[in-house]
Amino acid sequence: MGVYIRSIGAYVPENRVTNDDLTKLVDTSDEWIQSHTGIKARHICAEDEVTSDLAVKAAEQAIERGGIAKDEIDMLVVATASPDYTGFPSTASIVQDKLGLEKAAAFDLVAGCTGFVYGLETGRSLIEGGAFRNVLLIGVETLSRITNWKDRNTCVLFGDGAGAVVLSPSMSEESGIIDSLLGSEGSGAQHLVRRAGGSKEPIKLGSTKEEDLYIQMNGRQVYNFAVRVNTEVITTLLDRHQLTIDGISWIVPHQANIRIIQAAAGRLKIPMEKFFTNIHEYANTSAASIPIALNEMYETDKLQRGDLVLLTGFGAGLSYGGNLLKW
Ligand code: ACO
Repeated sequence: MGVYIRSIGAYVPENRVTNDDLTKLVDTSDEWIQSHTGIKARHICAEDEVTSDLAVKAAEQAIERGGIAKDEIDMLVVATASPDYTGFPSTASIVQDKLGLEKAAAFDLVAGCTGFVYGLETGRSLIEGGAFRNVLLIGVETLSRITNWKDRNTCVLFGDGAGAVVLSPSMSEESGIIDSLLGSEGSGAQHLVRRAGGSKEPIKLGSTKEEDLYIQMNGRQVYNFAVRVNTEVITTLLDRHQLTIDGISWIVPHQANIRIIQAAAGRLKIPMEKFFTNIHEYANTSAASIPIALNEMYETDKLQRGDLVLLTGFGAGLSYGGNLLKW
């Protein structure tokens, strides 16, 4: 028995913020942002919208498209780095309640922007292990809530959104998750960090530095890491299955920066047309970026059952990974 993506859904907030809008907040320009990242806009949640709200909207679409009853879903995994609450309760528990998934266990998965890639392999293992039948996996972020809107190095990069998939046992060879590669380089943890709020630096009124409440990033280090691991993940997954790039319909990379994707494509001599990108519209939505991309591909008929698709991710941790699947 294999495990396949039975259905998909996504949601992004209505509020669309352009690069020009950001020039009112920090010393930047549309030209700089587009030329250094490929980003033109991002969607930012409303004041009364929280991570679990975005997750619920994406999940409802996936559940409906999957034609699955809510009581058939017995596990809910929420991949996020921007939960409703720090530590507990998990966002998954809140989503489970909002969706009325009465029979589902629920937990959060924290692997930065690699969360969805980790989640697919986790879901597959849970189902193949036999303990669970149908897993709802959601990648969701409200990074706008932990972004320093005074820091031009980071605030232009991120956006909010959610993507969800239902994973179910696959009875045919036609579609399924074939293989995954997951990795971590924790020695790079400090390159992408939100310092305050954990056991290492609890928030203390009066002494916590404001910038420590937000994402801090060593952009150049993360960039170099990203190009290296993207290249390694693609090569390794192809080699393991004696595939060449011609056999792959699409590579769907984590949408962090178009230049990272172009650099990996250049090193591997893979044409950019093989890579699906929509970073121009959504910026980096972290754990949500791959399912948002897959959902757009699904809705625009770019994916046919049986297509070989390679997903690649990297992010805070530093974490990285990839999945090879038959759509
Ligand atoms: N507008 C205008 N100028 C800017 C901006 C901005 N928004 N941001 C930085 N600059 C300036 C810098 O201050 C610097 O100026 P200086 O030369 O006078 O010092 C100049 O632009 C060049 O800065 P660099 O940091 O060298 O620019 P670079 O070309 O490396 O691009 C970037 C920076 C886009 C952040 C790039 O390094 C990158 O994409 N890194 C990876 C980031 C990433 O993917 N993060 C997400 C990880 S996933 C996760 O888990 C969340």
